[in-house]
Amino acid sequence: MADNTEILRRRTFAIIAHPDAGKTSLTEKLLLFGGQIQVAGAVKSNKIKKTATSDWMEIEKQRGISVTTSVMEFDYRDYKINILDTPGHQDFAEDTYRTLTAVDSVIIVVDGAKGVETQTRKLMEVCRMRKTPVIIFVNKMDREGKDPFDLLDELEEELMIQVRPLSWPIEQGARFKGVYNIYEQKLDLYQPSKQMVTEKVAVDIHTDELDEQIGKTLADKLRGDLELIEGVYPEFDAETYLEGDCAPVFFGSALNNFGVQELLNCFVEIAPSPRPVQAEEREVKPEEPKFTGFIFKITANIDPNHRSCVAFCKICSGKFVRNAPYQHVRHGKTMRFSSPTQFMAQRKTTIDEAYAGDIIGLPDNGTFKIGDTLTEGEMLHFRGLPSFSPEMFKYIENADPMKQKQLAKGIDQLMDEGVAQLFVNQFNGRKIIGTVGQLQFEVIQYRLLNEYNASCRWEPVSLYKACWVESDDPAELEAFKKRKYQYMAKDREGRDVFLADSNYVLQMAQMDFKNIRFHFTSEF
Ligand code: G4P
Repeated sequence: MADNTEILRRRTFAIIAHPDAGKTSLTEKLLLFGGQIQVAGAVKSNKIKKTATSDWMEIEKQRGISVTTSVMEFDYRDYKINILDTPGHQDFAEDTYRTLTAVDSVIIVVDGAKGVETQTRKLMEVCRMRKTPVIIFVNKMDREGKDPFDLLDELEEELMIQVRPLSWPIEQGARFKGVYNIYEQKLDLYQPSKQMVTEKVAVDIHTDELDEQIGKTLADKLRGDLELIEGVYPEFDAETYLEGDCAPVFFGSALNNFGVQELLNCFVEIAPSPRPVQAEEREVKPEEPKFTGFIFKITANIDPNHRSCVAFCKICSGKFVRNAPYQHVRHGKTMRFSSPTQFMAQRKTTIDEAYAGDIIGLPDNGTFKIGDTLTEGEMLHFRGLPSFSPEMFKYIENADPMKQKQLAKGIDQLMDEGVAQLFVNQFNGRKIIGTVGQLQFEVIQYRLLNEYNASCRWEPVSLYKACWVESDDPAELEAFKKRKYQYMAKDREGRDVFLADSNYVLQMAQMDFKNIRFHFTSEF
């Protein structure tokens, strides 16, 4: 029997949030508990502030930071924690979606005053699609916020998931007294402090002790609230959480390090260890002895002095060993990695081995693209890396006739990295780049120039959505393509994509061609 201890103790997850909800603050506190950093303030936010949208040095700096903080790993109790960082800026949302394919669970941070915000909603959609277990942390309880019961209703409604509070706040804002930890049945009293671990008191809520600690009025209210919770919400069931059907909810304040350790303690106990991963051919179990993994993210370090890329590989099964021969399935060639890295909070170290659940960084000079699979020889293809229909489109044109080749190569490699999506219009042969936000166009133009010595020019194209089309009725599909020939394109895999110029046109097309399926993600 193989020893699965290494796999069972791993917890690989991402913290996701709408910008400003407190993701950076929470990450930092978790690292504090893991002994990875000694003081608060050591983790830089990877947020790109609004003022920085045209400040390239700033973006480079930010990107540089996100290379080293892309994965943060540490030991806590008997567990090995891998936190995957996600970009703060919504223009890089696609990056976050991909990161979610490499995690086994997610912690969502919600601002207690603002409730559910747009980014939270979108990210939750991806979790729901993949049935990723989520825990919700309601942050900023030290500020005036919404009524906790209303907030639970809002979470349930907006995120479309059943919720179950595992802790409960006693007042909030300036009156915030602490939380009752339902999971551990303890009272945690709040002491505003940015670095100290909070005081915990084991209190039986049915005795006078509670009244002594927080006063009779609050004690009675808390008892009433808890009774209501027990009446309204089904008992916490780890199974429904693991299936992605129910999200436990915790309250606290990341900035003040309140409620964070409680969250972490519960998290390590209930969050899943590495889960089986579906490949096209079969399901791959983490405890299988042979190594398999896939590339979910490629980050270029655009410091011109050390131009290098790191491909991030999630290990799906077995044990990865430095210098061992592995098969790059798409290229059909054997590769050895002499300097694979793992990531601590502020540094990278070369490692000799890693296990299922871990993320390793592989130095890359253009051999990898997102979704590539590595194995010990088996022809496996991991899937689950959908592209979403972009929100913005522009024609990309060559601005320097002498650099045609450089431009083509640059576009190719940036698309491999997943920076944006490329469609080739079948009518006029022009290349269209689709992105989630304006910032991506700027990044592409800048990187083409700086890394490939190629200049490009953007030209407007008025499009509403790209959708992948397919049909069991080849004649109808042909008829559709003929009717829409000016709006048909191919993606990089050669699949048919319909570029609709308005919602109205799209709806008409859907009505006229009943046997055609219109997909808004590339995975169907
Ligand atoms: P993000 O990564 O999700 O974008 O959020 P981040 O942790 O950077 O927090 C966003 C802002 O919210 C920061 O303030 C941070 O200090 C504050 N914050 C985070 N957690 C709490 C909390 O529990 N209570 C309160 N009151 N505030 C919290 P900022 O002014 O934007 O930045 P800074 O100057 O404090 O660094």
